[in-house]
Amino acid sequence: MAVRQGTHVLVTGAGGFIGHHLVTFLKGQGYWVRGVDLKHPEYSRTDADEFEILDLRRWPDCLEATRGIDEVYSLAADMGGMGFISQHHAEILHNNVLISTHMLEASRRNGANRYLYTSSACVYPEYRQTDANVVPLREDEAYPAAPQDAYGWEKLVSERLCLHYHEDYKLDTRVVRFHNIFGPLGTWDGGREKAPAALCRKIATAKLTGQHEIDIWGDGEQTRSFCYIDDCVLGLYKLMRSDYAEPLNLGQDRMVSINELANLIAACAGVEVTRRHVAGPQGVRGRNSDNTRLLDVLGWQPEISLEDGLARTYAWIEGRVRESLAATDRRELYADAV
Ligand code: NAD
Ligand code: GDD
Repeated sequence: MAVRQGTHVLVTGAGGFIGHHLVTFLKGQGYWVRGVDLKHPEYSRTDADEFEILDLRRWPDCLEATRGIDEVYSLAADMGGMGFISQHHAEILHNNVLISTHMLEASRRNGANRYLYTSSACVYPEYRQTDANVVPLREDEAYPAAPQDAYGWEKLVSERLCLHYHEDYKLDTRVVRFHNIFGPLGTWDGGREKAPAALCRKIATAKLTGQHEIDIWGDGEQTRSFCYIDDCVLGLYKLMRSDYAEPLNLGQDRMVSINELANLIAACAGVEVTRRHVAGPQGVRGRNSDNTRLLDVLGWQPEISLEDGLARTYAWIEGRVRESLAATDRRELYADAV
C-alpha cells in the first residue's frame, strides 16, 4: 500500500467504458488517480481524484495531462465496434495517431516511469482470420502485417512506437491487445456499440415491445471471443505491475458464433427471438485469443464466464432500454396533448 499511496496514476479515456471501470479499480487499490477525457463518464460518476476535460490530439493538452504522473494507462481513442470502425477510416487514423504519438512523448518529457498502451486484436493480419473456425491468435503472429482497417494500422504503429521508446529512451512500456471487451456502463447505442451490447439492446427491445424479430449483421456464423470488463481491468493492472514489455493478448479464449451469442443473451432475457440476417459490416470471419503467453507472463487468464458476464450486462442494458422506451412514450403523450 505504501508504494501505491505515493504513486500518481493517469488514466486517459477515463470518460469511456474501460477507462471508467479502471479508475474505480485503481482507487480501490489505493492509488491517486487523474482521469482525462473529452467528456465525463455518461452513466455514473467517476471515482478519480481529479478529472480533466482535455483533447489529447493536442500536444499542450498531453503535457497538461501527464504533469506529475508516475504511471500512465493510455486508453483514449476514437473507437467503436464494426459499425463505426468500418466507416470512419480517415478520422480514426488521424485522431488516434495524434493521441498516441503526443501522449507517449509527453509522458517521457514529464518523467513518467511506466506507460501502458491499449492495442487491439485488430492488429492481427486479416489473412489469419478468414475462417470461422480460426486458429487462436498468438502474439508473434502480427507479422507480416495486414491489420484490420485504419483502426488496426494505427494500433500496430503505436505498438511499435512503444517498443522503440522502451529501447531508445528506457521508458518502461506495456502493450496489451484486447479481444472484444464487454460489460455494464459501456456504449450500448448510437452506432459505436459492439456486438454484445448491440444484441443486448435489440433483445431487450424485442422483449419490452413484444416484437420478437431482431436484425443480425451477416449469417451470424462469424466467431469471436468476449471478455468481461472486471477481468479486463484486473488483467491491465497485472500487466502494468509485471516487467513484460512485449505485446500481450488480453481476452477470453472461448470462441462463440454471433448466433450463439444471441441465444445466450435471449436466455438471460427469458425470451425467444427470431433472427433476421441482414447486410452489415462483418469484419473478420473468425477471431480468438491464444492465451498461452498471457498465462506464462501473468500466471492468470480471464475467469468470468460468458454466461455470468452477459447476465450482468444484459440486466444493465435492459434497464437503459426501459428508460429509453419510457422517455419515448412521454414524448409521444406530450406531442398528442399539444
Ligand atoms: P470508449 O470509446 O468507451 O473509450 C475511449 C474514450 O477515449 C472515450 O471516452 C473518448 O471520449 C476518449 N477520447 C477519444 N478521443 C479523445 C481525445 N482526443 N482526447 C481525450 N479523450 C478522447 O472505448 P473503450 O472500449 O473504453 O476502449 C478503450 C481503449 O481500448 C481504446 O484505446 C480502444 O481502442 C481499446 N480497445 C478496446 C476494445 C474493446 O473491446 N472495448 C478492443 C480493443 C481495443
Ligand atoms: N456491432 C454489431 N452490431 N455487430 C454485429 C451486429 C450488430 O448489431 N450484428 C452482428 N454483428 C457482428 C458483426 O458483423 C461482427 O462480425 C461481429 O458481430 C462482432 O462485431 P463487433 O463486436 O462490432 O466488432 P469486432 O469483434 O469485429 O471488433 C471489435 O473488437 C476489436 C477487438 O477484438 C471492435 O470493437 C474493434 O474496435 C476492437 O478492436
